[in-house]
Amino acid sequence: MTNILLEKKGLYAVATINRPKALNALNSEVLQDLNELVDIVNADEEIRALVLTGSGEKSFVAGADIGEMSTLTKAEGEAFGKKGNDVFRKLETMPIPTIAAINGFALGGGCELSMSCDIRICADTAVFGQPEVGLGITPGFGGTQRLARLVSPGMAKQLIYTARNIKADEALRIGLVNAIYPAEELLAAAEKMADTIAKNAPIAVRACKKAINEGLDVTMDEAIVIEEKLFGSCFETADQVEGMGAFLEKRKHAPYQNK
Ligand code: CAA
Repeated sequence: MTNILLEKKGLYAVATINRPKALNALNSEVLQDLNELVDIVNADEEIRALVLTGSGEKSFVAGADIGEMSTLTKAEGEAFGKKGNDVFRKLETMPIPTIAAINGFALGGGCELSMSCDIRICADTAVFGQPEVGLGITPGFGGTQRLARLVSPGMAKQLIYTARNIKADEALRIGLVNAIYPAEELLAAAEKMADTIAKNAPIAVRACKKAINEGLDVTMDEAIVIEEKLFGSCFETADQVEGMGAFLEKRKHAPYQNK
């Protein structure tokens, strides 16, 4: 990966999108790197949670690359949208939890990238928005779909139609982010959360992610069956035996083994 730095830190990893000269904007090469990132992390059983952030103090990701998009034909535009959508969906459905640590601009594809992560926390300097209609296009990496599902259809429509940027406090108010931190404390907070998640029973954590994600796409009757099956799948694992045994024996559980 030429544009993403990946650092393993014990049970979790931190991936930093590193294209500072363009405020970490997503061109085809960065999208390709994101695709590779997911493959690398998925193949590494030691990584139990992933933090995603942007390099520099100014920007998480300032959107899809406007220079690259400026000369696309209709067919090429659709293909570029598909490329981004495929990668973001792969990120969204990776088995382990992902935390977006939004350290600055999260505009267009940057806001969309953060919405493909499980959890969003941001710096007090962060700025969010879907500026696409101001550029003559629609959001193209899932923004029309994930923003409407995450906040509300009405709020998503307002943000997308007006192309207005919002600051961290408004993002918190509408439920786009879970928490705001002073910029210099953001990464440590994200890493602490990743470490907390990674120390819980990994098979159970992954089952929770799958149950929530897949359950949201179907009726409640179907969703509770998804939950039942994943709930059942945790039993007889070494971690379930140890976790419940430790409780009953009034002792602290041993580190979970992912087994
Ligand atoms: N694409 C390509 N290059 C970008 C970029 C982008 N999305 N955002 C910033 N850059 C580049 C700038 O062109 C500039 O490069 P040069 O130094 O070579 O001129 C460099 O990053 C620094 O940017 P600025 O000088 O503009 O920095 P600033 O602090 O004055 O402004 C900003 C920061 C408000 C984020 C501004 O850069 C900006 O508005 N960027 C574009 C944001 C945007 O519209 N994003 C949505 C893109 S469309 C999209 O994402 C579609 C989709 O859904 C898939």
